[in-house]
Amino acid sequence: MLRLKTNILTPVSAQETRFIPQAIITIEKDVISGISTNGDYDIDLTQSLCLPGFIDTHVHLSQHFVRGRHCPHLLDWLNLHIFQEERRSRDAAYARQVATCFFADMVSAGTTTAVIYTAPFAVACNTAFEAAESLGVRALIGKTMMDQNCPDYLRENTLKSVEESIELYRRWHDKSPLLDYIFTPRFAPTCSSVLMEKTADFASSHDAFIQTHLSENTDEIAWVKELFPASSSYTAVYADHGLLTPRTLLGHCIHLQDAELALLAQSGSAITHCPDSNFFLKSGAFPWRIIEKQGIPFALASDVGAGTTLAMPHVMQMAHYRQEFTPLSLEEVFYRATLAGAEILHQADTLGSIAVGKQADLVFRTLPNGVEHSASSLLSLLTYRANELPVNQVYIAGKKVHPRP
Ligand code: GUN
Ligand code: ZN
Repeated sequence: MLRLKTNILTPVSAQETRFIPQAIITIEKDVISGISTNGDYDIDLTQSLCLPGFIDTHVHLSQHFVRGRHCPHLLDWLNLHIFQEERRSRDAAYARQVATCFFADMVSAGTTTAVIYTAPFAVACNTAFEAAESLGVRALIGKTMMDQNCPDYLRENTLKSVEESIELYRRWHDKSPLLDYIFTPRFAPTCSSVLMEKTADFASSHDAFIQTHLSENTDEIAWVKELFPASSSYTAVYADHGLLTPRTLLGHCIHLQDAELALLAQSGSAITHCPDSNFFLKSGAFPWRIIEKQGIPFALASDVGAGTTLAMPHVMQMAHYRQEFTPLSLEEVFYRATLAGAEILHQADTLGSIAVGKQADLVFRTLPNGVEHSASSLLSLLTYRANELPVNQVYIAGKKVHPRP
């Protein structure tokens, strides 16, 4: 048992963030077993702010070393910077180096759960799982699948791509309570119908997670229309191939038509919204209020390497800068970086906020002097001045992962 005295800032809902000063958190094994405002404690963290670990719902691990490489549009950026960098992760030593660095940077940025794409090589995916396991972080990880319209050095044989993904699923799905496999067809342009159908068949029959990209860029959308003339829209391509399930996460979803929104709402699939990436690649503006009105679940994500950083407070800031509609509240942005991520992973009972019975995924950031101790002032600080709140300790499932003991 561990008892820590600290100051808690936690989401409760999209509307409410709760601040509990001078609170004692009791951790038993991996779980928060008590929160009280008096009693004994073992560790004094009263100079810290304690947050739930952030949940980054869409991030490309194998792009970590090239984040922020400038090129203004998606398809050119993939060809100019990304495919060549992903190629390097065919080498086990390089893939291990990227993965080790990625997870160290992720936890030191205050993120405890990530949903990850790796380069399209089994070795890149396995080394990512091994690095996650060795550090003790929570992650869903998938090998990117692509069997058409890409450079030869990345193109997979269709059946081999599916078989390797199933093998990776079997190896990692039940290995640890912190880890899971996620099927990862990159996006419709680089995936054949056979690849998408076979992936969907296996994932649906095993209730497995799926992730892909949808409607990020207007040239991409035009290309999908050319490649899949039988489907009525980009979203319909995925629906027609069986990929839209309640365990599917769709990156971006910026330019959807009404019929596509209806399809998504019907499917129960969720969206991962990547504002930093969308600004960086000039992709367009995510229709936050429209998606919300449709009742489509969504959560925030860094989308590194089109996102420039793993720091979720920066992603929150980028989301909050939006001006086209009713301004967002800081409470709802914080919720989308934490609890909403847990919801789209079907883990809201155990992750995403600080509450009794939840997993002890906790991040302690040093509080600067002279800051008003209230939910609204601390949320402003976190969203707009997170560099003044350095991360000093991170626990995942009750175990300290940063700094490494
Ligand atoms: N669409 C297909 N692949 C990618 C990728 O690696 N990053 C982003 N942002 N969009 C994509
Ligand atoms: Zn992406």
